[in-house]
Amino acid sequence: MTVLKILVFACVLGLASLKSLKESDAKAELEAYIEGKKGEINQRYRLQYHVMPPVGWMNDPNGFVFYKGEYHLFYQFYPYDSIWGPMHWGHVTSPNLVDWTQLPTALIPEEEMCFSGTAVVDNDTLVLMYTGRVVTDIDPFFYESQYLAFSDDGVDFEKFKGNPVLSYTPNASPDFRDPKAWKYGDHWYVIIGSQVDGRGRVLLYRSLDLKTWDFLTVLGESNGDMGYMWECPDFFELNGKHILLMSPQGLEPEGDRYKNTYQTGYIIGKFNYDTFEFVPDGGFQELDFGHDFYASQTTENDGKRYVLAWFGMWETPFPESVDGWSGAVTIPRELKLRGNRLLMKPVESMTSLREETVWDGELSTNAIISFDKTGELIFDVDLSQKVELLIKGSNGGEEVLIQWDPETRKVVVDRLGDIRQVEWLPIGSNSWRMFLDASSLELFCGEGEVVFSTRVFPEGGWLVNNLSPKSLNVVAYKLRRSFPA
Ligand code: FRU
Repeated sequence: MTVLKILVFACVLGLASLKSLKESDAKAELEAYIEGKKGEINQRYRLQYHVMPPVGWMNDPNGFVFYKGEYHLFYQFYPYDSIWGPMHWGHVTSPNLVDWTQLPTALIPEEEMCFSGTAVVDNDTLVLMYTGRVVTDIDPFFYESQYLAFSDDGVDFEKFKGNPVLSYTPNASPDFRDPKAWKYGDHWYVIIGSQVDGRGRVLLYRSLDLKTWDFLTVLGESNGDMGYMWECPDFFELNGKHILLMSPQGLEPEGDRYKNTYQTGYIIGKFNYDTFEFVPDGGFQELDFGHDFYASQTTENDGKRYVLAWFGMWETPFPESVDGWSGAVTIPRELKLRGNRLLMKPVESMTSLREETVWDGELSTNAIISFDKTGELIFDVDLSQKVELLIKGSNGGEEVLIQWDPETRKVVVDRLGDIRQVEWLPIGSNSWRMFLDASSLELFCGEGEVVFSTRVFPEGGWLVNNLSPKSLNVVAYKLRRSFPA
């Protein structure tokens, strides 16, 4: 090596270590800021067993993956205010999908904001693939491409020096985000949300090393009535079928359907790895019928497919934001395919949260069960009778009415007059399983045919009041805390 080469080499090494020093300084500073800020948070609406940001804002869950014996979950995070801002990736882990540990922030924005993405395990390395959104001063004022970051311990992440690794779209659309990657045979595949002429679509690419990608095909595309942009796509096999799960923007409300600002739902079909063709078996179906469910993420482990989502919705109020934080993740659910629909059930380990049985038996008309911040209730529903439950705060605040009407055969979740309802035809059990946390409600009907996820903001604890004309059989538990305060 010549002296000049050695000098250049030393310089490059020096710069690289200076950069990583700067990065680790920025991370240490951020952790100190978060620690300091935590004490200022008003605890009244803080959830006890749902993933939340320690301070500040979160939206989509990201990079849900099982790595070295633990589930890792990341999320869109802005630590400095309880509104959306330049995106970081927050990070939590769990051995069982129920007990969570908060880890240091995994990604900090630099020239790029760290938008949503995926995580895969490549040999022993945890690889994050995320959308880097770079803002410009010329129309279209931003562009999006895909970035990588690596970790060998699942805690510290280093961005790839060759970023971005994927910026090609067939129509040069600036909307090109939310990669979801998986391995099949020798190849890595990734799907990415995009649009063409105001119609949402999902693009499919393939790679041997996660760094060099070839465009394969348009996996799915709106024919005009499926929204202008498809965000957060996911693609996986279940019972021999393929499911394209995604969050389309721009669907018009149709009767009881599509009542939220944006939707999350799925199309079932068949995928062929030789032709890269996805042939749908049917249309788009919503996954959850509540007020607050968006940008879902799935992962597979032990032959089971788990899903969770942002327990929130764009362009809606976040009453907790005045308390110094905003947003949460739904409880994890297991997905099963039954016929032409997905069923969603709380993961089995949710039963480990049960701390104390607070009710077991008949709950007569007008009777009330009270909870502190948390509860799980299992109702045995007689479908020939009307059911009406008022879920309200022990000191007032927001409330929700849950109803079943044997005439319309609809389950109704009425949050202060803002109604979500859907027909329910039980395929097995007639029970309702309801999870209450300090400011949330999740209702699972039957085998998970119909699920509602809704944030509600009571003052004080919870009162569950049976307003049905008949008594109901109920088992109810108080649940323990499983997310750090
Ligand atoms: C979905 C979304 C994603 C994007 C992220 C930005 O809620 O809009 O498409 O990557 O949020 O925070």
